[in-house]
Amino acid sequence: MSKNVNSPVLQPVTIGRLQLKNRIVMAPMTRSRADDAGVPPDYAADYYAQRAEAGLIVTEATNISAQARGYPRTPGIWTGEQIAAWRQVTAAVHRRDGKIFLQLWHTGRMSHPDLHAGGALPVAPSAIKPEGQIRVHDGMKDFVTPRALETHELSAIIADYRRAAENAKLAGFDGVEVHSANNYLLEQFVRDSTNHRTDQYGGSLENRLRFPLEVVKAVVDVWGADRVGIRISPLTTAPGNTPLDSDTMATFGAYVDALSALGLLYIHDIEGVTQLNREATDGVSFSALRARFHGAYIANNQYTLALAEQTLAAGDADLFSIGRRFIANPDLVSRLRDGAPLAEAPREYWYGGDATGYADWPGMRGDVLAQQ
Ligand SMILES: Cc1cc2nc3c(=O)[nH]c(=O)nc-3n(C[C@H](O)[C@H](O)[C@H](O)COP(=O)(O)O)c2cc1C
Repeated sequence: MSKNVNSPVLQPVTIGRLQLKNRIVMAPMTRSRADDAGVPPDYAADYYAQRAEAGLIVTEATNISAQARGYPRTPGIWTGEQIAAWRQVTAAVHRRDGKIFLQLWHTGRMSHPDLHAGGALPVAPSAIKPEGQIRVHDGMKDFVTPRALETHELSAIIADYRRAAENAKLAGFDGVEVHSANNYLLEQFVRDSTNHRTDQYGGSLENRLRFPLEVVKAVVDVWGADRVGIRISPLTTAPGNTPLDSDTMATFGAYVDALSALGLLYIHDIEGVTQLNREATDGVSFSALRARFHGAYIANNQYTLALAEQTLAAGDADLFSIGRRFIANPDLVSRLRDGAPLAEAPREYWYGGDATGYADWPGMRGDVLAQQ
């Protein structure tokens, strides 16, 4: 018998109206294989279908509009061609009895004029330059100071989210995840270090939460709250190394309360600094945030099966998302069930390139996994 066949983490579970095969979620991962028009390649359907053993897949972050783009070769969901390509992906995952949510993205200031027509500046709540550099078509470049959005422009961005949510429906997704983590546009509004606005979208905590909540409400209008999740990263310091908020727990406590009141399906919490550590610093308690939310709680960041089992037993999470381990282990759930060794994905395959190092990882018995 497989070593971990009885692990509670690997048993079926129902959240909202979604029946999942297990409590493992494939975390969203940008892999930069789309073309310059933001259309995912054919082999993206293989890649996602090969990983359909996960209880739920959350796709790579997907731009809601041309303005939303921050990195080369990231996919979009605002054109017919993009919708058609995503339809291939969802059909392939559904053929393997998987469930898949689309992650809706606007990068805000984490972008560069090289990504925008006419070299336009990236937009943000306030004209505050991120620390460091960003990847553009030909390597790394320094961030620039973004253009602060005018109040009247915000309703157009909300409309972009709404249309992206509608397009996700047309593309056959099971639901959507609003990306409000890792210091992209929505988090830039939430944080007091990146939002210095003086209109009704800045200043008080209530004002800083206004735009993200209006976005979430627009998406909920399209999908219903029980098909909408949200990703947050209270302790991420990206793109630098310093805390982004003067009172992280107060900010995220209020945010989570408001999201809970909207009846969202789940919050997807990156615990600690994304990929780097799992420390609960700055007065943040993940279990306290979890307790304030009525829907499901997806825990993320450096989870192993053992840590997921411990956390589930403590009642501190419902689902567990795993990112990097899914890159080289398409059949990760089977491997966890069998206690089989896990393959390592060299970093050169993480972003960019083609099907190599992406849709060609073998299963644990060296078998080529079925295509689409
Ligand atoms: C190659 C790569 C791409 C990522 N892209 C995204 C993304 O598009 N959206 C997102 O919310 N997080 C993204 N992340 C963060 C992961 O979802 C996850 O939070 C992180 O890898 C920590 O989980 P892990 O320790 O299981 O890998 C990315 C991580 C990696 C390694």
